[in-house]
Amino acid sequence: MCGIVAYIGHKPARPILLEGLKRLEYRGYDSAGIALLADDTFEVYKTAGRISALEDILPPGEAKEVVGIGHTRWATHGAPNTINAHPHLDATGKITIVHNGIIENYATLKKWLLSKGCQFTSDTDSEVIANLIGYFYSTENARDGNNRPASENKFEWAVQQALHELCGTYGLAILCADYPDTLIGAKKGSPLILGVGENEYIIASDAAAIVEHTTQAIYLSDNEMATASAEGFRTMTIDNAVVTKELKDIEFSLEQIELAGFDHYMQKEIAEQPTAIARCLGGRIDPANARVVLGGIGEQLRDLTRTKRIILTACGTAWHACLVGEFLFEQLARIPAEVEYASEFRYRNPIIEDATIVIAISQSGETADTLAAVEQAKERGATVLGMVNVVGSTIARTTDAGVYLRVGPEIGVASTKAFTAQVAVLTMLAIELARRRHLSSDYAGALLGELNDLPEKIETILRQSDHIRQIAQANIDKENWLFLGRGVNYPVALEGALKLKEISYIHAEGLPAAEMKHGPIALITNRMPTVFIATKSLQYDKIMGNIEEVRARGGKTIIVATEGDDHIAQYADHLITIPDATEQLQPMLTVVPLQLLAYHAAVLRGHDVDKPRNLAKSVTVE
Ligand code: G6P
Repeated sequence: MCGIVAYIGHKPARPILLEGLKRLEYRGYDSAGIALLADDTFEVYKTAGRISALEDILPPGEAKEVVGIGHTRWATHGAPNTINAHPHLDATGKITIVHNGIIENYATLKKWLLSKGCQFTSDTDSEVIANLIGYFYSTENARDGNNRPASENKFEWAVQQALHELCGTYGLAILCADYPDTLIGAKKGSPLILGVGENEYIIASDAAAIVEHTTQAIYLSDNEMATASAEGFRTMTIDNAVVTKELKDIEFSLEQIELAGFDHYMQKEIAEQPTAIARCLGGRIDPANARVVLGGIGEQLRDLTRTKRIILTACGTAWHACLVGEFLFEQLARIPAEVEYASEFRYRNPIIEDATIVIAISQSGETADTLAAVEQAKERGATVLGMVNVVGSTIARTTDAGVYLRVGPEIGVASTKAFTAQVAVLTMLAIELARRRHLSSDYAGALLGELNDLPEKIETILRQSDHIRQIAQANIDKENWLFLGRGVNYPVALEGALKLKEISYIHAEGLPAAEMKHGPIALITNRMPTVFIATKSLQYDKIMGNIEEVRARGGKTIIVATEGDDHIAQYADHLITIPDATEQLQPMLTVVPLQLLAYHAAVLRGHDVDKPRNLAKSVTVE
């Protein structure tokens, strides 16, 4: 959702904030702003639009201020215009904040503050936070006359009083004009990291905005605050209890978050898949014994092997990976599995029986719905495992144990390499569980050998990129597409449709191929391309029947088939091939041409591939 960056130190803050905001822009990009502390007042610049629009309104020349906060927004409350953009000032002008999250009780708080004479200028929930802090700061009266432990520093005290009034989620960076050498950050439900440099500190919602300046960071937990000043930093709870936090290394480099000659991050991340998958598999396969070594969940493997049920939960693309996982756990390991949308799971009073294991999957590790599902499952006694990409993220820290995807930062809003890695981890786990339950070492060894060949196989698909662009070009005027697959490739059909929707704004539906005849077949005309995943599998003949049904109605077909399948070519208006692979391992291959198809369609339509309209990379609100 929104991106926050704040700086206090000895260097000019403005370029650091702008650079940081650009690196966070994938989190939201409908409006942006910065506030710089100049002497004892704030200079606030904000505008609707992207960071480039913000740069356009800044005064020319260098700014010498060494303290400031910045924000890139993904609107929740209030239209994405200049007034609603952050930073927000309180009515006295002494306090300024940037906020990521949602304040659920903002209407009540706003009414109360209005009754106290506070003025509001925006429609946002966030402005309430600034005014609340400002109110406590100027009156020095706690709202309910409470005697909670609180700081003796007036600025910290006012922040703590305000935070106690908030229901909802926040990642906050806060400045006070009377405390020019103090920057406060606070977290509940939205990520917040304090980068620790030499006499300089950066608060950000994502390490991408920090790594250029320091690789040492502290990850705040919920209900914690950090105060940074020229003298150093302190971390405490919002009840003012000191907490000692471990300094952690940010485990990625600047190069990993740069375009490196590609036009778009999504293009780069699609192309990175061979190396990303190799990294994800690296050191985890023991070919000699036909076993998989997943150190992060080593202690849970015994329970996993004997579990009666696995529940997989996630949102978006990660939810599609869960569907592949369900297939693999049942087909390979013969363990009953089911998949839940995290957003539904959390509200429907889920039944967690003894020995149920919940697996939460998330690229960012910050998706609010997935995090809530994790908390819900833990509360009900389940062991919860995470499959997460971002090291140290909230879901990674909240789950009982987990496996990192190890694919490096994913910046393109449309997820690509994270999906293939999520499926790779699920495949490794399913093979290991199968091996512990019943699978012969010969069969497991063959599957693991094939897994090792995946990076090379993905390379051969990537080489068809130009051919796939031509297919996108030939169909670029079509507004409705169908994606059909069966078995383990059905979730890939869903993922192909999602990719096309997300970045090219073309309406697309993914379906199990056999379901087409129960309704969607009514839509088939020569204006509706149907993408079939018709690789060699147990259901190959069945899907050939579905292809015939589409062709008989004048529909156009784009077929993803297995290399060397000469027979299928005559049924395809456009043919894409993938190298031969065992059915269970195919999703990591069949998804790649669909990612490329969506990418090229979006570029051909002139869309901003990495920042599609209305979307955000990481949805940290409900
Ligand atoms: C957002 C993104 C999707 C992503 C989903 C889940 O909606 O736009 O691309 O799949 O969140 O994100 P996660 O970080 O939990 O995998």
